[in-house]
Amino acid sequence: MPVDTLPGSGQTICVTGAGGFIASWMVKLLLERGYAVRGTLRNPDDPKNAHLRELEGASERLTLHKGDLMDYESLREAIMGCDGVFHTASPVTDDPEQMVEPAVIGTKNVIVAAAEAKVRRVVFTSSIGAVTMDPNRGPDVVVDESCWSDLEFCKSTKNWYCYGKAVAEQAAWEEAKERGVDIVVVNPVLVLGPLLQSTINASIIHILKYLTGSAKTYANSVQAYVHVKDVALAHILIFENPSASGRYLCAESVLHRGDVVEILSKFFPEYPFPTKCSDEVNPRAKPYKFSNQKLRDLGLEFTPVKQCLYETVKSLQEKGHLPVPPPPEDSVRIQA
Ligand SMILES: NC(=O)c1ccc[n+]([C@@H]2O[C@H](COP(=O)([O-])OP(=O)(O)OC[C@H]3O[C@@H](n4cnc5c(N)ncnc54)[C@H](OP(=O)(O)O)[C@@H]3O)[C@@H](O)[C@H]2O)c1
Repeated sequence: MPVDTLPGSGQTICVTGAGGFIASWMVKLLLERGYAVRGTLRNPDDPKNAHLRELEGASERLTLHKGDLMDYESLREAIMGCDGVFHTASPVTDDPEQMVEPAVIGTKNVIVAAAEAKVRRVVFTSSIGAVTMDPNRGPDVVVDESCWSDLEFCKSTKNWYCYGKAVAEQAAWEEAKERGVDIVVVNPVLVLGPLLQSTINASIIHILKYLTGSAKTYANSVQAYVHVKDVALAHILIFENPSASGRYLCAESVLHRGDVVEILSKFFPEYPFPTKCSDEVNPRAKPYKFSNQKLRDLGLEFTPVKQCLYETVKSLQEKGHLPVPPPPEDSVRIQA
């Protein structure tokens, strides 16, 4: 299809932290939809970002810009002249010093630069960490966009990633209101799926540890999952739909860790999955209820979690992060 007939034709989006797991998928899908993309990177020459230049359409419509969250000027230069910003760059760590200040200051810098550039909309990548960390939420409450994490609880449990994401999201809303910036927020749960980048990010380690034998048991806890392509597409649908507003919970399923290892071990029986829960005393943790209706109303069809888990492992094999098992004995014999 000629580029000028695609939905993004003639429009430019700045994606912050373009080389990351989720942002790389945003760049890929934006290019496929005809957008021009400006990606900010702390180091555009780092070989770990080389995959971006190989994406279809990159040579014609992708430019990479040096940008640090703590350096306003670098962000301003990248954002000036853009129609939209997907602000996805963030530290992903539980170290309070590395997490909180860069997340908050960086977010404010992006909103101020977006105001100056008069962009049409900022789509901000927040997290489920800004939504569910609330010890007082009843077991029957449906988790949706109205829920906010309890900051004191995040602090007292030293969950600095969730704390940082929650205060960064709050700062985003406040700064955008003050500056008259149209902002919409996506709150993804744990993101899995194929990697475009060559490095491993934090959410992929969540699965990798079950495949390498480093996790000897699984925790008695639950986790919500979503496919990386769906998260990237959610940002685009929100940008393209003028009536989109507020927060969007981006989640497909909630599974107990026991379910995750069971699904994975059926697909890939050759890996040393843990078979025991680390907690044999308490009752099995129950999945919480949630609503992803807002994103489904925008037309997002979520990838089933089993497919997402399967594709994650296949990608880890293809990228050389996991040994590819030898073919089953039977097929060896048939070939011989
Ligand atoms: N993956 C998940 O499960 C998940 C779930 C919910 C929300 N999120 C959010 O989604 C976003 C992307 O996460 P991801 O999983 O794709 O992680 P990722 O692969 O680690 O990407 C994070 C990106 O942020 C950049 N960054 C970090 N600190 C920066 C700074 N001071 N200045 C400029 N760039 C900086 C990193 O750049 P460098 O390469 O230079 O370090 C990297 O490109 C984050 O906002 C995260 O909180 C992720």
